[in-house]
Amino acid sequence: MHRDCKCILFTEEDIRRRVAELGEEITRDYSSGQLFAIGILKGSVLFFADLVRAIQVPVLMDFMGVSSYQNRSETSGEVRILKDLDFSVEGRDVLIVEDIVDSGYTLRYLCDTLERRGAKSVKVVTFLDKASARRAEVEIAYRGFEVPNAFIVGYGLDYAEQYRNLPYIGILREELYQHA
Ligand code: PRP
Repeated sequence: MHRDCKCILFTEEDIRRRVAELGEEITRDYSSGQLFAIGILKGSVLFFADLVRAIQVPVLMDFMGVSSYQNRSETSGEVRILKDLDFSVEGRDVLIVEDIVDSGYTLRYLCDTLERRGAKSVKVVTFLDKASARRAEVEIAYRGFEVPNAFIVGYGLDYAEQYRNLPYIGILREELYQHA
């Protein structure tokens, strides 16, 4: 598993430090109330678990499952809800928690949907931002790191459902997906 990465972009220590900073920033911005954190399955699960513990205001937690990639390395632009929220967003300050924003299609769809459902506010935190791959316009309130347009795995991010449990973030060797 470790040999499949051609390099490490962010170590466990880099991740720990940046998550703590994001938690402090979010705590400051939401100091007057409760926050409704929505993790987008499955990639964001590791980041979500670390981030909520770094936030010092009450957090209501929920998850949404959406599909856009269908086991391929390129986005289709189509987004479907596979698992919806258990709680209503109406009147709540929503924070969408993503592992990575790539084309932006998933996030554009989620922001539009949650605003339409009556959220009081909708903001986004993403651990990684692949800004050079963006196709849809999205506003990101908090970002961990910007990453290059390469195949990134680890800390929740997968290739064909593998590598999510790598504790660091790395770039996958090209030969592993080029002929897939
Ligand atoms: C990834 C990621 C985002 C989305 C970003 O999820 O977690 O939700 O893709 O891509 P976009 O900006 O091009 O829309 P994916 O669909 O791979 O599912 P996963 O989280 O279960 O791995």
